[in-house]
Amino acid sequence: MYQRLARPALFRLAGGDAEGAHEWTLRRLASLPVAARRALGRVYAVDAPREVFGLRFPNPVGLAAGMDKNGVALPAWPALGFGFVEVGTVTRYAQPGNDRPRVFRLRASHAVINRMGFNNDGAEVVLRRLAARAQHGGIVGVNIGANKDSADRADDYVRLIETFAPVASYFTVNVSSPNTPGLRNLQQATELDDLLARVIDARERVRKNAGDSPVLLKIAPDLSLADLDDVVHVARSRRVDGMIVANTTIGRPSTLREQTRLKEQGGLSGRPLFRLSTRMVAETFVRVEGAFPLIGAGGIDSGGAALTKIRAGASLIQLYSSLVYKGVGLVESIKADLSSTLLRTGRESLSEIVGADAATITAEDWPG
Ligand SMILES: Cc1cc2nc3c(=O)[nH]c(=O)nc-3n(C[C@H](O)[C@H](O)[C@H](O)COP(=O)(O)O)c2cc1C
Repeated sequence: MYQRLARPALFRLAGGDAEGAHEWTLRRLASLPVAARRALGRVYAVDAPREVFGLRFPNPVGLAAGMDKNGVALPAWPALGFGFVEVGTVTRYAQPGNDRPRVFRLRASHAVINRMGFNNDGAEVVLRRLAARAQHGGIVGVNIGANKDSADRADDYVRLIETFAPVASYFTVNVSSPNTPGLRNLQQATELDDLLARVIDARERVRKNAGDSPVLLKIAPDLSLADLDDVVHVARSRRVDGMIVANTTIGRPSTLREQTRLKEQGGLSGRPLFRLSTRMVAETFVRVEGAFPLIGAGGIDSGGAALTKIRAGASLIQLYSSLVYKGVGLVESIKADLSSTLLRTGRESLSEIVGADAATITAEDWPG
């Protein structure tokens, strides 16, 4: 229904401008009537709450960062079946991001290229929105990043931890966006060690007043395995609570059909990212050795893809690009598929299969 009727109309909106269609959708979701919201949520076996990072997740399917950067549609996401939502990336000060157009659909490949550049309303405004919703509960992670012109990027992350600690269920330290020049350098061992030391220190300082907020590190799928060794080593030694694998890729897989779009700069997401990001989940899982859980993101567009990501090592998953192509009904269909897998295999919970295929996947040829 979405793909036959709604999607063509949506893709024609705003003269075919992808960002215009995104803004229109967010406005509709922000004003979804309460009755419609209540009617939407169904309950599957996979809706049994699970504890990850010390938090109770109602189900393992989350909304990835970037969709609701400013937290304007918070009530809509749980109503559509999501178990958690990650707002952001939020920066300390509001910033406009890069010039438009900066989001491009690659329709035949079910992919997106974006170079948004952390456009967002800034910490103060987003904090007010999250605080106004705080009594409604639900897991709302806050993905934080540095302003483009920041003189001390690590300090931005520290201030953001201090600001959002009272309302953030968890933090994601985003050092993997390709659209803020130099940001990905924060993944290098010495810089990352300094950043995480300061971030974890800030979290400990605010803990007494604001409670505990787990800190997760979100990485790029483009790291070399030697770099991944360093990143995991630093993450473990600084005792982060988890990692999100992965952000968008700056690579352009040879399978992409849209030659004209390939010259667009930015991060690629969606179906063509699936194999690389799943490989990186498995590579990370074997290096982490159970020290903390992982969230898997990248190209998940079906129950089967979700299951593969979980078997590669993800305790939870996040979606973004597939919602553009398949609509929000995808959340319920992934949950239904995961639930029938549980019933069919006689398992109580997905945690029994997290990482079951990690060793096999890491032995395969590198995804091209
Ligand atoms: C338009 C767009 C904007 C995004 N913005 C952010 C962001 O602000 N911060 C972030 O950490 N990831 C951002 N992402 C990356 C997603 O959170 C996710 O990691 C990535 O798209 C892979 O998942 P997918 O293939 O399901 O889209 C963005 C992705 C897209 C498509």
